[in-house]
Amino acid sequence: MRDNGTDFYDNDANFEKYMQRRQWQENANDTLEKPVIMELLGDCSDRHILDLGCGDAGFGVELLKKGCAAYMGIEGSRKMAEASESNLTGLNNGTVQHMRMEDYAYPPDAYDVVISRLAIHYLQDIAGLFRGIHQTLRPGGRFIFSVEHPVITSTLQPSGMRTNWVVDNYFIEGYREQQWLGGTVHKYHRTVEDYFTALTEAGFRVASLRESKPVREHFLTEETYERRRRIPLFLFLEGVKKG
Ligand SMILES: C[S@@+](CC[C@H](N)C(=O)[O-])C[C@H]1O[C@@H](n2cnc3c(N)ncnc32)[C@H](O)[C@@H]1O
Repeated sequence: MRDNGTDFYDNDANFEKYMQRRQWQENANDTLEKPVIMELLGDCSDRHILDLGCGDAGFGVELLKKGCAAYMGIEGSRKMAEASESNLTGLNNGTVQHMRMEDYAYPPDAYDVVISRLAIHYLQDIAGLFRGIHQTLRPGGRFIFSVEHPVITSTLQPSGMRTNWVVDNYFIEGYREQQWLGGTVHKYHRTVEDYFTALTEAGFRVASLRESKPVREHFLTEETYERRRRIPLFLFLEGVKKG
């Protein structure tokens, strides 16, 4: 059976390397991904937030400290779910469930915001997931997510310092394998159009489409900033539940 996106993080060596990578100064998550997520999210005070593929729930801790009413993380990796539980200890209204996001019940009209950061490209099928997310949002509720940019997932190459990128197989959607941090990651490529269409077919109005355009102030060095202006790493979409 094919490995899934959570098995990678349950391998001790991969988990350690991933956590170290997240601490790097100028890591792509903090310089490129998070600023757009924060902009799209805006004021989260009094919001009930569901975070799919929440990792160690560091983001949940931040949201609760910013005044969100409740935070629920769903995390498929046991090691990540344990890290989440530990990080959320002592914070009121912060919980995590160890399960795959495909298996969550998505109770109707329960959340104001569903967020998912860099996890949905691990899923083979997103149509059912997006319907579940639509169901669990209150009218006017928002679904905000980031994924690896389709120009990257189309043509996965061993990760390293990227200075240029040749896009290939863009319209061949589906399974991809990549060597990353010494392990093998399993992902699913889909086009920008596929993500957009999946949102509209689930009933959302697409309110934003963003790419990880670098902003100079988020970088310590000119060199990294200039390098990040060459290749788009992340794609973001925001869907709003009508009504
Ligand atoms: C790149 S990490 C991002 C973690 C966190 N969202 C962040 O931005 O720091 C991807 C996370 O998604 C989780 N994940 C992947 N597939 C999943 C699934 N089907 N259900 C739940 N979690 C999943 C992985 O275990 C991993 O913790």
